[in-house]
Amino acid sequence: MEDLETECITSIKEIFFNFGENYFNEKNVTQLRHALQCSYLAEEENSTSALITACLLHDIGHLINKNACSSIELGIDAEHEEKAVEFLAPWFCDHVLFPIRWHVPAKRYLTGTDVGYFSLLSKASIRSLEVQEDHSPGKKLLNLNKFHILQMR
Ligand SMILES: [Fe+2]
Repeated sequence: MEDLETECITSIKEIFFNFGENYFNEKNVTQLRHALQCSYLAEEENSTSALITACLLHDIGHLINKNACSSIELGIDAEHEEKAVEFLAPWFCDHVLFPIRWHVPAKRYLTGTDVGYFSLLSKASIRSLEVQEDHSPGKKLLNLNKFHILQMR
């Protein structure tokens, strides 16, 4: 019987090996490349190993959901951040899971408060933000979208 660490590494490697080359409504960045870019940037910022790990795995919820692409196209929030946390919870502590769970509300907050941040989002990222529901406790405050941003300009 393999230990927990081996099980974790084997499972994650298998997911990236099988689905990492998928494009997610974006034609120039694969899921694996996106994960590596995020973790690289976190490392460059001297982030903790937990945050670097969270950056690497934050969108794994898209990879374990066979219908992720069609969900977004159909306007359905597949709650990939929650799926990721459920999947990773047996192996990782809250220092890794918390940023993963909150990366969608954090993106929503940043798009609502930082026009420069919003302007850097890809079309796919904007589309996913439109579809993803805001489950945060302060959702009325944070529930700003691109239309609010455009009105603020
Ligand atoms: Fe995400």
